[in-house]
Amino acid sequence: MSNRGTFGSKLAIVLATAGSAVGLGNIWRFPFMTGQNGGAAFILIYFACVFLLGIPGMVNEFLVGRHAQTNAARAYGQIGGRGWRVIGYLGILTSTIILGFYAVVAGWCLQYLFASIAGQLDGDPTYVVTYFKTFSSDPVKPCLWGVGFVLITHVVVSQGVEKGIERASKLLMPLLLVLLLILVVASCMLPGAVKGVEFLLKPDFSKVSSKVFLEALGQAFFSLSLGTACLCTYASYFKRDTNLLKSATQIALLDSFIAILAGLMIFPAAFSVGVQPDSGPSLIFITLPNVFREAFSAMPVVGYVISILFYALLVFAALTSTISMHEIGTVFFHEELKLTRHRAAWILTVICSVIAVFCSLSVGAYSNLQLFGMSLLDFCDFLTAQLMLPTGAFLTSILMGWVANRQLVKDEFTNGGTLRETFFRTWLFSVRYIVPLCIVLIFLHQFGIL
Ligand code: TRP
Repeated sequence: MSNRGTFGSKLAIVLATAGSAVGLGNIWRFPFMTGQNGGAAFILIYFACVFLLGIPGMVNEFLVGRHAQTNAARAYGQIGGRGWRVIGYLGILTSTIILGFYAVVAGWCLQYLFASIAGQLDGDPTYVVTYFKTFSSDPVKPCLWGVGFVLITHVVVSQGVEKGIERASKLLMPLLLVLLLILVVASCMLPGAVKGVEFLLKPDFSKVSSKVFLEALGQAFFSLSLGTACLCTYASYFKRDTNLLKSATQIALLDSFIAILAGLMIFPAAFSVGVQPDSGPSLIFITLPNVFREAFSAMPVVGYVISILFYALLVFAALTSTISMHEIGTVFFHEELKLTRHRAAWILTVICSVIAVFCSLSVGAYSNLQLFGMSLLDFCDFLTAQLMLPTGAFLTSILMGWVANRQLVKDEFTNGGTLRETFFRTWLFSVRYIVPLCIVLIFLHQFGIL
């Protein structure tokens, strides 16, 4: 399809894909998962998942997407035959569900942005907790923010202002990094912060259960945007000479670095002001306002400005991720149903908005909206991150390692023979054996079969 755009430069590719990877997964989900799973030991398993399974998995999706240069479902079909389109369908379904609940949390960030501008978050730790509870259990407001976030994503995806986003990313991503560093220092200087640093660095393996492995796997895939054909869709815009392994490695490193910074920002502060590390999805929202107040108590204006900047950048980071989830379905409906991009985008926007409203209500006003003992939001998160993403990545590994034409894969991997073959063998070994076996073992272990 010759009229599909390509990303402008090498930097733009890494930026857009990194923009998809870096988001609430790093700053919201990683700290709360780490907190619920006992800290350092979880992080070690998480790293193993990123480097052993994540990077080869990312390369898989990149290969499929760049080779086929079309929407996810068709791309998988081209590599393995019609039946393999199912990976694309599964990916589109998964990313639609993720966008639904992700928008709820992104909506909370929007609310916190405006609340910090209005100076409403200023108060002692008990006040901060009450503020979150009161806001999130309102029947209307959080729903509106969530749907609002889906609509903002809709505008960007359907109007195609990706160029503007690309340009903004060049400035805003480094700024987010700098601000995170400042907040890490600020948080670590709070009284009693050492306990939080220890929690992150001293592994306690007695806390490791089978659940921890699946949660680390799910977190790694979620954070890398892996397993939903999202990377495949982005790679369909890559240039022919992009070094796929190198890009995957760079993105995984950056993504992990930001997650660790987020941990170092949250836990020292949480321990300092007495927030429980296993507070779950509310963790960053009941911890951060304390950092801005306590750490900058001598210079409240600086704290005020930094808090606004931080929430603004968080919203931006979430937006570059929601765009990628929305794009998967939009291109699919656009190319397969021959709808205009606009109409195709509306299909997704409506479905995601409905999911967002139900998820939002389930953690607030209608807490009886539960499935398997979890709120609808937690259930969607569990279903996608821990079941659907690993399944997507598993099937993709089988396809690339065992089914696809070996020569074709090799040509794509080495950019038609221009790159060295050394890593090809290692990569092939891991997608044939390591990735599928590890995923199956973790599943079996979790469901008590092993
Ligand atoms: N990786 C993103 C984050 O960490 C979330 C995300 C974007 C995602 N696209 C995805 C997760 C596709 C899974 C699949 O915030």
